[in-house]
Amino acid sequence: MSADPDPKEDARTVSDISTRSEQRRARDRDARPTAPVPSAAQAAPGRAGHTIALEKLSAYYGETRAVRDVDLTYAANQVTAMIGPSGCGKSTLVRCINRMHEEIPGARAEGKVTLDDVDIYDSSIDVTMVRRVIGMVFQKPNPFPTMSIFDNVAAGLRLSGVRGVDLRERVEWALRAAGLWDEVKDRLGAPGISLSGGQQQRLCIARTIAVEPEVVLMDEPASALDPIATLKIEDLVHELKERFTIVIVTHNMQQAARVAATTAFMLNGELIEHGPTDKIFSNPNDSRTEDYITGKFG
Ligand SMILES: Nc1ncnc2c1ncn2[C@@H]1O[C@H](COP(=O)(O)OP(=O)(O)OP(=O)(O)O)[C@@H](O)[C@H]1O
Ligand SMILES: [Mg+2]
Repeated sequence: MSADPDPKEDARTVSDISTRSEQRRARDRDARPTAPVPSAAQAAPGRAGHTIALEKLSAYYGETRAVRDVDLTYAANQVTAMIGPSGCGKSTLVRCINRMHEEIPGARAEGKVTLDDVDIYDSSIDVTMVRRVIGMVFQKPNPFPTMSIFDNVAAGLRLSGVRGVDLRERVEWALRAAGLWDEVKDRLGAPGISLSGGQQQRLCIARTIAVEPEVVLMDEPASALDPIATLKIEDLVHELKERFTIVIVTHNMQQAARVAATTAFMLNGELIEHGPTDKIFSNPNDSRTEDYITGKFG
């Protein structure tokens, strides 16, 4: 994606993204009380968040361009909502942010995505590290079907070499932060798929945050849930922003209004406008945004 960089620069950039993340995690862990932690917000208040910036980001499926020259900055420790009619490119754009888009045969991205000052498309960057640092929650809860509740959350941690008491503590922390601990603490060995849809989605959120990413991408995380489960996810998003930078795709304008500080409106692969959520919903700059939010199309 970017021009061939100096190999010395490469090494510095790659180690930067992993070392700085690990240092932050260690600092946060030291700051974290050892007693059970009631919520993500209380776990590490004021954790410094991280900014994602898209510059002239385009995404293709073969010859078809589904995202066109998007410039957009996601502020640290804020929730940004992505709205727009079906097929406008929201999921495609979000998948470019953690390099999942390129996994689709024939798909590619152009332009630049930076996490703070690190270009995550740099040729030297380890894609696995990108996906660990920028976690994703999907529309349909997708717990690992053969794994217990505990193992679903522990899976990513085990891959990172976490074992024993440390592993149990971090699983409990993630389940508490995801607002699920009290509902599952007596049946951690039960299959993940034995939970309700809303519980499974919180399990998937716990799984994502267990490895302590910097950014959490959520693609319509509550669209398959009933209103009560939806509100739980929204409460959770509120708490999680104390620790993470959050991007949430939603078709639900009330949800965007409830959870997001800023909202970005997309149409036909383009970013039409991005601004404070109350302004986008009350006094947008672009007439197409107004037409969409007032239900004239979409
Ligand atoms: N795997 C794929 N292969 C080819 N084209 C795709 C693929 N996924 C999406 N597209 C196309 O890319 C465009 C954007 O799709 P995308 O899924 O990003 O939209 P969206 O805004 O998330 O829509 P929705 O609100 O329905 O989820 C659409 O025209 C879609 O048909
Ligand atoms: Mg989508």
